Amino acid sequence: MPSSLTRTPILDVDAIRAQFPALHRTVHEGTPLVYLDNAATSQKPQVVLDRLAHYYAQENSNVHRGVHTMSQEATDAYEEAREVIREHLNAASTREVIFTRGTTEGINLVARSFAQPRLRPGDEILITAMEHHANIVPWQLVAEATGARLQVIPVDDRGVLDVDAFERLLTPRVKMLAVVHISNALGTVNPVRHLITQAQGLGIPVLVDGAQSVPHGPVDVQALGADFFCFSAHKALGPTGFGVLYGREALLETMPPWQGGGDMIERVTFERTTYNELPHRFEAGTPHIAGAVATATALQYLQEIGPAAVAAQEQDLLTYATGQLEEIEGVRLVGTAPDKASVLSFVLDGVHPYDVGVLLDHMGVAVRTGHHCTQPLMQRFGLPGTVRASFAFYNTREEADRLAASVRRAASMLT
Ligand code: ALA
Repeated sequence: MPSSLTRTPILDVDAIRAQFPALHRTVHEGTPLVYLDNAATSQKPQVVLDRLAHYYAQENSNVHRGVHTMSQEATDAYEEAREVIREHLNAASTREVIFTRGTTEGINLVARSFAQPRLRPGDEILITAMEHHANIVPWQLVAEATGARLQVIPVDDRGVLDVDAFERLLTPRVKMLAVVHISNALGTVNPVRHLITQAQGLGIPVLVDGAQSVPHGPVDVQALGADFFCFSAHKALGPTGFGVLYGREALLETMPPWQGGGDMIERVTFERTTYNELPHRFEAGTPHIAGAVATATALQYLQEIGPAAVAAQEQDLLTYATGQLEEIEGVRLVGTAPDKASVLSFVLDGVHPYDVGVLLDHMGVAVRTGHHCTQPLMQRFGLPGTVRASFAFYNTREEADRLAASVRRAASMLT
């Protein structure tokens, strides 16, 4: 019996898969798709697709502006979505839940509105060597504007953060710590609770990039204790173009608006403008209303499955697929931290990752290849990039078998 059939899955994956239309399509003239690019974006269950369609078909109106029925309904749905998202994150108040375009915008907001006014020449912003470009470039921009500089916590050859180096780098010069919760390129789960405690003990505010943690397990921002936490909806079963920045209310209250426009104001005259209260002060212009309501549906769906069951299912798949790939001659895993989630990055000796990705695609297996928007991390490992298979709870051991069989075939063709 193939090893993929010997274990009862944690979730009823067949029933779950039936709810995701995209998982049932074929590519390249009839080859069933194996979708393993979940770290780039997840597929969407039918309830989320239906929620988007229902919003545009029945509720489409601008929010916070109309006296008419549909506008009231859209406003209610939009603000109810904020409450659902607050509950999912366990934020203390909806005033702490800012709607954004995604993780990138959340980090830029904090860098510009919170950090920039506080930074002085010689101050330091501490990040890790495994950050996504979205958690590097915004800090470089504010460093250039203020005379502050970036400091980088190194990682070891397994992709584990060097916590001793972190503690050495934690000097009084550090004015901000920005750290990824789970690495999108390696899957490393960082000890964020420890990092936050250490930093905050010295009065250093902390931002956590949760783009890869919200889709893959439970997140409780109060238990975590971060000052800021952001994620993107599209990686967590929701639509593209929508995300959330959680911020501690006491800090958000001190921050100036970063974009001006409708909805973020209280009163405007040509002489002076006063600003709306939280969270609207940071939400200028007509927002992505359909994005908010569909994200609430996506998070409710995740809650029904259970974030802990999601994490357990993905951990099982990761362990299983890792074992399968380790047996293939020429495969080298990149990122072997003991605490990993959902990501399996690897290279085939002597072969460019792009070539592997193209061959896998022709065999129906969708993976991402390249630097994964983490060029400095790839430089750390001396690689142009990796092949990255990333799992979701709707993937199966049979799909991991197809990944392994396809990699084996690619290896025999390319090496
Ligand atoms: N940040 C996304 C990824 O890791 C796009 O693929």
